[in-house]
Amino acid sequence: MSNPTQVHAIEALLSEERRFPPPPEVTAQANAQPGIHARAEADPLAFWQSWALQLEWFKPPEQILEWNEPFARWFADGELNASVNALDRHVQAGRAATVAFYFEGEPGDRWTVTYGQLLDDVCRFANGLRALGVKKGDRVAIYLPMIVELPIAMLACARIGAAHSVIFGGFSADSIVDRVNDSQCVALITADAGWRRGKPVPLKANVDEAFTKGMPSLQTVIVARRVGTPVDLVAGRDRWWDDVVRDQPSICEPERMNAEDLLFLLYTSGTTAKPKGIMHTTGGYLTGVTATHKLVFDLKATADVFWCTADIGWVTGHSYIVYGPLCNGATSVLYEGSPDYPAFDRFWEIVERYRVTILYTAPTAIRTFMKWGAEWPNKHDLSSLRLLGSVGEPINPEAWMWYRDVIGKGRCPVLDTWWQTETGSIMIAPLPGITTLKPGSATQPFPGIGVDIVNEAGATVAPPGGGYIVLTRPWPAMLRGIYGDPERYEQTYWSRFPHRYLAGDGCSRDTDGDYWFLGRIDDVMNISGHRISTAEVESALVAHPAVAEAAVVGKIDDVTGHAVCAFVSVRGDAVGSPELGKELREHVGRRLGKFTAPKYVTFTQELPKTRSGKIMRRLLRDIAEGRMLGDTTTLADSGVVAELQARAKAEAAKEE
Ligand code: WT7
Repeated sequence: MSNPTQVHAIEALLSEERRFPPPPEVTAQANAQPGIHARAEADPLAFWQSWALQLEWFKPPEQILEWNEPFARWFADGELNASVNALDRHVQAGRAATVAFYFEGEPGDRWTVTYGQLLDDVCRFANGLRALGVKKGDRVAIYLPMIVELPIAMLACARIGAAHSVIFGGFSADSIVDRVNDSQCVALITADAGWRRGKPVPLKANVDEAFTKGMPSLQTVIVARRVGTPVDLVAGRDRWWDDVVRDQPSICEPERMNAEDLLFLLYTSGTTAKPKGIMHTTGGYLTGVTATHKLVFDLKATADVFWCTADIGWVTGHSYIVYGPLCNGATSVLYEGSPDYPAFDRFWEIVERYRVTILYTAPTAIRTFMKWGAEWPNKHDLSSLRLLGSVGEPINPEAWMWYRDVIGKGRCPVLDTWWQTETGSIMIAPLPGITTLKPGSATQPFPGIGVDIVNEAGATVAPPGGGYIVLTRPWPAMLRGIYGDPERYEQTYWSRFPHRYLAGDGCSRDTDGDYWFLGRIDDVMNISGHRISTAEVESALVAHPAVAEAAVVGKIDDVTGHAVCAFVSVRGDAVGSPELGKELREHVGRRLGKFTAPKYVTFTQELPKTRSGKIMRRLLRDIAEGRMLGDTTTLADSGVVAELQARAKAEAAKEE
């Protein structure tokens, strides 16, 4: 890789010598037994078909894969319904009283939702949606906090054959407008507000603001009551959730969906300012999330309490709070709030209260817990834990070891899982009864997944060595494309290296065939595990009247992975002042969502550009990292560099 921090990282990682073989007691009872990788590799299609046939189908598929590169159709003659697989199946098997979710609200309100209740709630809401005219083939936007209404709304859409498009509750009005309009959603489901660190997040007010910018396809808004804050309801358009379900029966005939019918859209950031609507279909997606949830997390439906701490607004929550766990009949924790409210031990209190056995969280959270200190987890009985998962960004060996030692008391395998919104399900991860673990490595491809590391020319890099990670064959939960833009799909993922899917990550492979992730190779930042492109933040910045030009880079941050670092030149007589810096941060936060607000803003008269007028991002990244610069002769005006360097340094010093 060309980025020097990555070169450094490769050396540090590959000298990691600690090894943790699977404990015999884990292997003895594990769902995945040695030999599974080789068996799947010998016949990946047969492997996936056997998992697909464990789902419940109205019409079981006879076809497995139709591959019209890069367009895949899996199990395409099969018919099923996702909500039936998530709910009815377990209820019919006599598990209606099994807990689906232990809900814990941030203010401390709690209740348990059984599979039987969840099915009732989903059916009533699905009937309500139908009564409002929502039908098979429509798209429905969902903008809710982490409350039970969120999975209910998703599954109700699935039941009636409407695709859901969940918008993370941390996004603001502009992000809602873009997503709703791109896929022409007919309805939007939201709440009055959600709780975050003891304060209401005004979701309905954000939706109202979005309406002022135009969302002509939206006919209906449904508002769940969560916080009790007053909201404005527009007559004929907006209604309370309670009114929608009030007179509805708790039986709702599920639509028979084709395996390749759209289950959901989830927007994710690419390298341009326009987020991509990633499409996932029904049969392949459910196959992928069910198999990975059962094997990577060794899920035992009758014994485990699974807690994935992600927000359902991201793919991790879709796959490992909603669809994977429910299809496997698991009991999960659903927590609404933040890890530091009311105190730094909130997560550990939750683990203790529900006797969580499997915890799935992000490196940014782990590094934050490290900073807060071991005394917080040590106040609680964490002996129920048996497996620890990590996802969202590379996990550094120190954080990995801390997770293992302090949270897992050295007993619990740490499973670093690599995947993406686009892949739908986990692609590279250890299997707890099989894989020897190495701190900082995601280890091995999941059975049936084809992976390679290639150089600029597309040739395989022999281990040990690093390069671009590519996926070499289709898999069931793969994205089916970008909504409304098949060309962008081909261009983004399948054009750089013919016949291989480009993930966009740098990765190194050691002589055992274990994979070590190094971060993105494009202009996508990873802020606390949230993906956002530099272009999105730039376009928000230039929408401010005082800004002439803006360039954004990700600066490596100990806690959040990346911090947003903006270089801004101002218009006419505007002045780059601390006040304007603050205003710009707030402006970006309002437009995109608070987590995208630049941590660093550096004002400059001009941005460094090549003679052909391209902003020199590499240089800005180096400046942001405080590195010395090499050859700068392609600069339009080399004085800019010195100025930028000095200002970036001053900004960084202020923060420390
Ligand atoms: C990007 C995908 C998949 C769920 C969460 C994020 C990074 C994710 C890992 C990991 C190293 C990781 C990659 C990837 N990433 N997991 N275990 N090790 N990097 O989904 O928002 O689609 O982001 O997150 O850069 O490309 P996403």
